[in-house]
Amino acid sequence: MIGEATDLVGYSLYLDLLGPLARGRTRHDYDLGAEEARVRRAMELAGEGKTVALVCSGDAGIYAMATLVFELLDNGDLPDAARRIAIEVSPGISALQAAAARTGAPLGHDFCTISLSDLLTPWDVIEARIQAAAEADFVIAFYNPVSKKRRTQLAHARDLLLRHRPADTPVILATNLGREGESVRIVELAALNIDDVDMLTVVIVGSSESRVVTSGEGRRFVYTPRGYAGKAGSAMKRDAAE
Ligand SMILES: C[S@@+](CC[C@H](N)C(=O)[O-])C[C@H]1O[C@@H](n2cnc3c(N)ncnc32)[C@H](O)[C@@H]1O
Repeated sequence: MIGEATDLVGYSLYLDLLGPLARGRTRHDYDLGAEEARVRRAMELAGEGKTVALVCSGDAGIYAMATLVFELLDNGDLPDAARRIAIEVSPGISALQAAAARTGAPLGHDFCTISLSDLLTPWDVIEARIQAAAEADFVIAFYNPVSKKRRTQLAHARDLLLRHRPADTPVILATNLGREGESVRIVELAALNIDDVDMLTVVIVGSSESRVVTSGEGRRFVYTPRGYAGKAGSAMKRDAAE
């Protein structure tokens, strides 16, 4: 998709990260924030006949720009030409997939994602989701775990989860994935320290079944078995019977 674009719209850092792929295309750089302006501009440029790539990090449909395209289309307030454009969403590798691949297979059984940003979602809704995910024993990927002004939510989530899963539940802290300064750590839930997390970290908390295993080369991995221990015997019996 980027290979066909005449114009690129996005946060400057993301356009820089495109490297040689950005060459020969017109850049429309934006600062962090200004998201609606970015998306509107991309749609207007497409309405003027340009082939536009609206560039996001990870997957464009996961806490990202693709949603805003459809919100603008749905809520009106766009020039007619921008409303008639052809839209295509290209899949990307979301932070939780990149973090999972770096650390093994923590998403081997049911998981969910929760954004801890209360900018657009009330905290009591977020808290209710954490509670439900904790009770249902999902592996949970927390996006937007902290921001410069917001540091209490992750500690609250940790304390809530500790009521439902063991203190040594593995937690993955993956920061700057795929970029310079990438860091990936595996810690225990009870030892999860908010100061080890920044805005560019995705935090994956294992379920009560998630385990740490060390490979022959001495590397620690996290995995979540596909089934629950009590069920494994019967699953094997069923496989044998089929
Ligand atoms: C607005 S969301 C964007 C998510 C993105 N669309 C995706 O699919 O990964 C921003 C959050 O995603 C996570 N994130 C995005 N890029 C990351 C990266 N390179 N490394 C680790 N986490 C990242 C962080 O939790 C960050 O606070």
